[in-house]
Amino acid sequence: MPRTTFHQLRTLEAVVRLGSITRAAQELHLTQPTVSAQIHELQQALDAVLVEPAGRGIRPTEAAQLLRAAALDMFARWQRFEDELQALHGLERGVLRIAGVTTTEYFIAQWLHRYTTEHPGIDIELAVDNRDAVVRRLREEAIELAVMMMPPEQPPLEGVPLMDNPLVLIAPLDHPWTRLARVPRRMLDGAPLLLREPGSGTRLATEAWLRAQGRQPQIRATLGSNEAIKHAVAAGLGVAFLSRHALADDPARDGVVIVPMAGTPIQRQWMLVWRRDRRLSLAARRFVEHMRAQPPQPPATTPASPAPAPPGDTGQAV
Ligand code: PGA
Repeated sequence: MPRTTFHQLRTLEAVVRLGSITRAAQELHLTQPTVSAQIHELQQALDAVLVEPAGRGIRPTEAAQLLRAAALDMFARWQRFEDELQALHGLERGVLRIAGVTTTEYFIAQWLHRYTTEHPGIDIELAVDNRDAVVRRLREEAIELAVMMMPPEQPPLEGVPLMDNPLVLIAPLDHPWTRLARVPRRMLDGAPLLLREPGSGTRLATEAWLRAQGRQPQIRATLGSNEAIKHAVAAGLGVAFLSRHALADDPARDGVVIVPMAGTPIQRQWMLVWRRDRRLSLAARRFVEHMRAQPPQPPATTPASPAPAPPGDTGQAV
């Protein structure tokens, strides 16, 4: 067995993936000569050429590609071993730092409860905020995981879809639309609409849908929370789009009705996301595994899925 180290293999992995010594050095916070020296040592130990000069840079050889694949297998295996070792010693400890956009406050506690029952040694730090604030937390690495429906393009994320998130149009109980079996979309033109604050994903999704449908309601008010929107709709200030999950099983208990408008609900999905460029802690990995193994069930009252909504230009599926 040649004398290779994990450090050298991590370096080689980055060099092959990025196709550049300089970029690998930047990513690993090493100097260029250190990266070159590690590659050189690996070549000696394996008696194989791993990088060839190409123009002003380098090109990884086929041997380097093979070695990278083997290294990735070893990293994954080692990771599993570390997890098993912790479990063996009953040492599953840590903090799950997670944030959810505002609508998640209606259900995320149930997920966390199930998770902590299985993983009692892990503490939870949960932040609930609007989409922009959650994205900022991901950028600043104040959290590792986020639950949202409109993930940003930056930072690059990975994710798992969790469950549907239908956005429904709500109106006050006595609204004339509630007497119609089907409300045509054009009736939105000029109708008083309430929107969430800028930075809200619900607002982004609503605006994207209105644009796609070519509808122009009259924006009557901007309100800073789902609860404020519900109260304002119930009071007759206007109509609004809101996640079905922000409403009571029987929306009449919130003083609102779901309008049967053509083309609605706006069909979105709850996603669990994390940064692709960061290694997740044990607590976060366990949560991802937990949600994959036991995907949450949408509330029974959720309307059946209609055709998927056209993609918004600021939100993208991961
Ligand atoms: P928000 O949530 O309206 O609270 O921002 C929606 C989302 O981005 O998923």
